[in-house]
Amino acid sequence: MSKPKVIVSRRWPEEVERHMTSVFDVQLNETDVPMTPGEMKAALQSCDAFCPTVTDPVNADVLGVDNPTAKIIGSNGVGFNHIDLDAAKAAGFCVTNTPEVLTDCTADIAMNLLLTVARRTGEGERHVRSNSWTGWRPTHMMGTKVTGKTIGLIGFGRIARAMAKRCHFGFDMKVLFHDPYPPSAEDAAALGAEACGSVDEVLARSDFVSIHCPGGKDTYHLMNREGLAKMQPHAFLINSARGDVIDPAALIEALNNGTIAGAGLDVFEGEPAVPDALKSMENVVLLPHLGSASVETRVAMGMRVVDNLTAFFAGETPQDKLV
Ligand code: DGY
Repeated sequence: MSKPKVIVSRRWPEEVERHMTSVFDVQLNETDVPMTPGEMKAALQSCDAFCPTVTDPVNADVLGVDNPTAKIIGSNGVGFNHIDLDAAKAAGFCVTNTPEVLTDCTADIAMNLLLTVARRTGEGERHVRSNSWTGWRPTHMMGTKVTGKTIGLIGFGRIARAMAKRCHFGFDMKVLFHDPYPPSAEDAAALGAEACGSVDEVLARSDFVSIHCPGGKDTYHLMNREGLAKMQPHAFLINSARGDVIDPAALIEALNNGTIAGAGLDVFEGEPAVPDALKSMENVVLLPHLGSASVETRVAMGMRVVDNLTAFFAGETPQDKLV
């Protein structure tokens, strides 16, 4: 029996590409140049499985292509707001993602952003490298203490819970959260976490607010001017989830006005473009969407896609089926 034909939209870790090539008839993207909508449509018309990543907009137009041969879209990443799931379902595609394997690394990046912005370590690093450091002194580069403070989590899924674990057990922090689908009281208590009745309550009570909800229309600009104004002036906003949850113009205004103290951002609306205003602020830490970027995790994500496709072509339901 011939192997299923798989088209991959970007370079994946070498180990995964090698493994994929041994189990499927794979067309890799050796140039790593993002595919155009036209190229994604052509892919859907010439393979059995198409594997995009979280930066490929697999929208209704792409999914509405005539006479697709692809049956499954095995996306590499946990987020799925780049895929129009309704259109995919209507067109009969199975869609999968890669949850679980990136939970710890993404929580690590959220914690990293929190520590970096609070303790001014990015700024300190630049200070040393630019030969500006003149020596220790009692008032030099004082930041904000993290241990014992209050973290507020917007959303309480896997990554938020991993963040809660780090904050509660590692930094003795009080953990607040809001999620429309909260866990049981016992599960929350095991992480030392207290459920709040609303996002506003989390914003008002926290020293650090960390976003862990999905992107998309339901959470678009959740952190707008009104939301930011509900945070405390000494509080920091952390985003390792999706850029469009924050209104960038409102964030810049809030940082300029002292409405909040600072921000740590791994994701941006319209990334990879990042507003120049943010780049010029020392109280903002900016990372290039590194949440899952460890070798171990990126390999595990790729292997998870292979597992999903393998199950699908064996006639089973892939473990990460979204539709
Ligand atoms: C995802 O998987 O959704 C991340 O944003 C990239 O790791």
